[in-house]
Amino acid sequence: MTTDAFAIEVAQYGKIPAHVPPELVVDFKYDDDPGFAEDPQKSITRLFNGPRVVYAPDPAYDGRGGWRVHRYEDVRAVFQDGATFSSKNCANFQGFVGATWDMIPLELDGERHQHYRMLLNPLFAPGKVNAMEAGVRELCINLIEAFRAKGRCEFMEEFARPYPISIFLKLMDLPLEMRTTFLAWEYQVLHAKDMEVRKDGLNKIIAYLQSVIDERRKNPGDDLVGFAIKSKINGQPIPDDDVMGIVFMLYIGGLDTVVATLGFMFRYLAANPKVQNELRANPALLPEAIDEMLRVFASVTGSRLITRDIEFAGVQMKKGDRIYVATIAANRDPEEFENPNTINLTRQANRHLTFAAGPHRCIGSHLARRELKIALEEWLARIPEFSIEPGAVMPAHAGGVWGIENLPLVWKV
Ligand code: HEM
Repeated sequence: MTTDAFAIEVAQYGKIPAHVPPELVVDFKYDDDPGFAEDPQKSITRLFNGPRVVYAPDPAYDGRGGWRVHRYEDVRAVFQDGATFSSKNCANFQGFVGATWDMIPLELDGERHQHYRMLLNPLFAPGKVNAMEAGVRELCINLIEAFRAKGRCEFMEEFARPYPISIFLKLMDLPLEMRTTFLAWEYQVLHAKDMEVRKDGLNKIIAYLQSVIDERRKNPGDDLVGFAIKSKINGQPIPDDDVMGIVFMLYIGGLDTVVATLGFMFRYLAANPKVQNELRANPALLPEAIDEMLRVFASVTGSRLITRDIEFAGVQMKKGDRIYVATIAANRDPEEFENPNTINLTRQANRHLTFAAGPHRCIGSHLARRELKIALEEWLARIPEFSIEPGAVMPAHAGGVWGIENLPLVWKV
């Protein structure tokens, strides 16, 4: 695709700022490529044939379009410079229902962000993840054993979605019976076509989490909510809004991302029995293989608010502009990765950006890797060679977290 092919009539959008060069305005959607459903991450690499930076005019929640960068070097630079690229309102689910608290630590900048990271980092350090291992494995085995003898499952519904939500409930010390309700609310928020239904789901999640916070204030335990309630920052207890910001962030951050990654990974393994059997025969390959699959199957697009006028990637950007960064594209940049679209399970020097970089690098990356490793270990040990049900149609979606909708798997029993 050339720069010309990207150029569109700017006049059709009223809100494009005057400093945006018309030839950089690109009216595209990530999912408008015909190959999107089959290989979403590969379809984004068409952007490497166009300008280094584009301005997508379709409005986000704030009614404005924004810059999009996709090269590895640029995505990394944005993630690393929190002073120029603010995270304020970068996800803003809560704004959708009129709440004004921040998702913590994601939407904080500078010192406030550092304070919260210092407080929360130990909870997700490798040692803590080791301590969670047995519980996570038990949840994983229970899910697999519920369908193993049937010789089939709808992977997304019966495994990918319930697995991380069960872990979240455990972290929060909430009953596993809440899983079905949480999944229904989450489905409303992420997939409902009607905005009112989405809002309803969000309101229900927030109201439920608030009731948990209220109850734990009276009787704080050793779970994550109890930890937040008992903690102090600069000698002061954490205000209610911030406790909500932390709990809500962990709910949003640790679910859909893991669901999406599991979906992409298992679809790839189901379609590639040779790789599947190699990993089954040699589980020691799993850590490197997981990182390579994390690279090719990145799922997150982030956003930032520009805090000062700058020239970035050869373009003049203004304070108040929004910029979007696709970890998905960066991980397929041929300047950084040799044969980026090829899955090389023993790839060396794999500096992928799936978990971002800089101050907001994913706090849950150790836990996420462990969840993925346990899922693969238990699947490969318990389920014989599995494949995709013939004729299956598997739509994919773009958005803040990319993913596939369904994945029917079959195996011999
Ligand atoms: C494969 C799974 C995961 C992926 C791909 C992923 C990806 C990311 C990315 C790209 C960011 C940075 C977003 C930005 O700066 O705009 C991030 C931040 C974050 N993630 Fe994850 N994540 C995953 C799993 C998890 C899990 C399991 C948890 C928690 C239990 C978690 C909690 C968080 C939190 C709290 C932040 C905010 C960190 C900060 O702002 O300092 N994530 N994640």
